[in-house]
Amino acid sequence: MSEPKKLFIKTYGCQMNVYDSERMAEALGGQGYAEVSSPDEADMILLNTCHIREKAAEKVYSELGRFKHLKAEKPDLKIGVAGCVAQAEGREIMLRQPMVDLVVGPQSYHRLPEMEAQVSSGRKALDTEMPEEDKFEKLKARPKAKRGPTAFLTVQEGCDKFCAFCVVPYTRGAEVSRPVERVLREARDLVERGVREITLLGQNVNAYHGEGPDGRDWGLARLVRTLAEIDDLKRIRFTTSHPNDMEDDLIAAHGDCEKLMPYLHLPVQSGSDRILKRMNRSHTRDSYMALIERIREARPDIALSGDFIVGFPEETDQDFRDTMDLVERVNYASCFSFKYSTRPGTPAADRGGQVPGDVASARLIELQALLSRQQQAFMQDMVGREVGVLFEKPGRHPGQMVGKSDHLHAVHVTAEGLKPGDLRRVRVTSAGANSLAAELV
Ligand code: SAH
Ligand code: SF4
Ligand code: F3S
Repeated sequence: MSEPKKLFIKTYGCQMNVYDSERMAEALGGQGYAEVSSPDEADMILLNTCHIREKAAEKVYSELGRFKHLKAEKPDLKIGVAGCVAQAEGREIMLRQPMVDLVVGPQSYHRLPEMEAQVSSGRKALDTEMPEEDKFEKLKARPKAKRGPTAFLTVQEGCDKFCAFCVVPYTRGAEVSRPVERVLREARDLVERGVREITLLGQNVNAYHGEGPDGRDWGLARLVRTLAEIDDLKRIRFTTSHPNDMEDDLIAAHGDCEKLMPYLHLPVQSGSDRILKRMNRSHTRDSYMALIERIREARPDIALSGDFIVGFPEETDQDFRDTMDLVERVNYASCFSFKYSTRPGTPAADRGGQVPGDVASARLIELQALLSRQQQAFMQDMVGREVGVLFEKPGRHPGQMVGKSDHLHAVHVTAEGLKPGDLRRVRVTSAGANSLAAELV
């Protein structure tokens, strides 16, 4: 057998890109590639990119610049760009960086094997089509190798919401859900390979409406409940949800489906109705607060998380105060917050009312300070409590294992005989900046 060719993939952006990178590596595995952890030894480098903010997109070009010397030393080295920058910029990437051999969008990477062959024969390859066909069905069956205890599984892609700031509806296309049976098949397969926790992914995962085995439309709650019947699957999570798609049965599932973990990422973006309207979010501050209340009724100890944008065009100090006030009221377990970044082609890009950069930066600092106080308080509150932990890998100290709690906190325990995949009850003994220490009970 010939030596495998070496593939280096670097992944930016959201969890869906992490999942896509796995599938791309598998697709190229069929072409004789094995993954390596450094670009220096690679025969092919693939950047799986994110277009969400300007900085994310620009990183791609600076990274490509760094590969120039590698290409000079090894003219056979192939360089590809995948993901959302590939979708948004297409051929432009090859014009700006002629050493790029291959550009493939997130909806066409099932064609990677053919594209790789084309590149190997000395031609460039570009595909940013958004075909109707289900790319996951066109990809070869996933390999059977053993894997770690946690996995992502994409069940829904794309977005029809068109928030005024966001590129996702353009880079990922319209909302599409995978049929229930295909999701179940992939989930069972993952569990057979050792997976104990699955995180269902979608740009709007709770807008999932897949065709059920009965030919009817199944929502996410029904999918979750059916997945929960797989014995050796111990935990289910999903992300990212949109407030408008949080249907009653999904809220109920948080109360009565034991395998569904008490953690929910439910971005609101702003606490000001005026800004929410300009963002085209189609929910209000009050409707969001009412939703949070219902979710907490169903699952009182749920850890809530969210995303915020500060400095959206025309955001006043009062609008920002409204955001701070909403955060105070919700009390989040953890959050992501960003300074607004103008994205070409989105509705907000052509509007006036830009907030000066230093004002937006000051708001971001203030918001992040509040969010981090809440995060610390939530972690402190775990001290003395008993939680479940799914152990994933050895920690930094001898005899230590680390895993995630039900509430998605990183937890480390020092104990004999623990191995990856063990799901154990622990008592939290102390809270650090980013993780909890615990002992087995
Ligand atoms: N589908 C998800 C996540 C979309 S992207 C959702 O609807 O919540 C992840 C986060 O990036 C968004 O929630 C938003 O907070 C942030 N984001 C998106 N576009 C942005 C932009 N132009 N500038 C700054 N942050 C942005
Ligand atoms: Fe972007 Fe809004 Fe769609 Fe989320 S819901 S992906 S923020 S357009
Ligand atoms: Fe980024 Fe695309 Fe995900 S823009 S956040 S990689 S959907």
